[in-house]
Amino acid sequence: MEDLSIAVVGATGAVGQEFINIIETRYPKANNLRLLASERSAGKTISVNGKELKVETTTESSFDGIDIAFISVSSEISQKFAPIAVSAGAVVIDDGSAFRMESTVPLVVPEVNGSDVDWHQGIISIPNCSTTPLVMVAHPLRQLSPLIRIVADTYQSVSGAGASAMTELTKQTKSLLASEAFESESLPSQIGFNVFPHIDSFLDTGYTREEQKMIDESRKILHSDNLPVSATCVRVPVYISHCVAAHIEFEHPVSVSDAREALSSMPGVTVMDNPQTLSYPTPAHAAGKDDVLVGRIRQDASNSNGLVLWIVSDNLRKGAALNSIQIAEELVNRDRLN
Ligand code: A2P
Repeated sequence: MEDLSIAVVGATGAVGQEFINIIETRYPKANNLRLLASERSAGKTISVNGKELKVETTTESSFDGIDIAFISVSSEISQKFAPIAVSAGAVVIDDGSAFRMESTVPLVVPEVNGSDVDWHQGIISIPNCSTTPLVMVAHPLRQLSPLIRIVADTYQSVSGAGASAMTELTKQTKSLLASEAFESESLPSQIGFNVFPHIDSFLDTGYTREEQKMIDESRKILHSDNLPVSATCVRVPVYISHCVAAHIEFEHPVSVSDAREALSSMPGVTVMDNPQTLSYPTPAHAAGKDDVLVGRIRQDASNSNGLVLWIVSDNLRKGAALNSIQIAEELVNRDRLN
């Protein structure tokens, strides 16, 4: 990995910055990075492993000589630059929703379906930041009994909407505490001291696009095209980490102890579940951590074949930047970079 040339498109964004943090911890010698953003950021410098690197405007020639292009920008910009990067010989790992459901594009969580990188044709997508923790938990559980249905309700932090939404939470909170007027610019509703069930746009079905992403992407990653999945996605006034309350129904009953054991053996998952010591995960526990945390594991009171679980994960790390770095590692290990 340290020998590779990596372009980071969106290097100044919330996910891009976390990507750089993770590279510094996992690859302390890597500095063959090209940091790309909009022309607004051109000339800024960002320190990577002790070297000051200049941010450049993303252009058609930005990908010459690049092995891997990590892209975390809006779908429109991904759609513009990903094919250019592929033509220049790079493998694109895309954080957005632009390509996720295309049949030629693998959608990968390495611990769940890492072998799907084998059939990439230049672009690999990473899932939505709430889908990833859900499948990280559903995958080991389905080894105990086949999945019949998943209902997932999320509590998603503002960093999922980008750096500007984080600033908006700070500003609104200050304004509300001072009884001053405020505006919602990056987010569709008041986020200070509030929650709202609206992430991405509404579809004719009444679901939001974010909810539909959880449905479609879970099925694609788990290779279960007909798995019934439903979701309600809610924005909460938290800076980092998304939570999911998941209700999972199985073909046969699954005991809480078997579920705990299966989850404890899953790489990338930490069980934090002890009601006696009041141990359960929260966004504050997950922020800055690599693992998906799971707790409150219990039998579903409404379904004898069901379990209820509380899942928390750093949306900028496993939900985005870490997952893409792990995909790059999977490509290297499987010799599928070219
Ligand atoms: P910039 O900081 O120059 O605007 P976030 O999701 O946290 O808001 O981050 C979005 C990222 O997308 C930022 O790094 C932003 O760069 C980048 N970006 C926005 N517009 C473009 C563009 N036209 N070309 C490349 N990167 C862009």
